[in-house]
Amino acid sequence: MSDTIEIKASKNGPYLIASGATFTDAAGNVKTLDGKMVALCRCGQSANKPFCDGTHKKINFQAEEATLSLPVLEGAAA
Ligand code: FES
Repeated sequence: MSDTIEIKASKNGPYLIASGATFTDAAGNVKTLDGKMVALCRCGQSANKPFCDGTHKKINFQAEEATLSLPVLEGAAA
């Protein structure tokens, strides 16, 4: 298992997270992103939060591209 996770903020679009990441949603459900990239809303207007539903294109969301490599905190992995 990698000890860092990479999050890419796409130009004018969502946060992209590679497969293998685990997160807990607002209802407390733990989800693992097995084998696929996930897009999380960065514009705040998605009707399917925390996921991107493409609304950023309709509202002409503007933001710069960036990539973050963050350490996985001990005990945070499921
Ligand atoms: S970033 Fe795509 S809907 Fe918000």
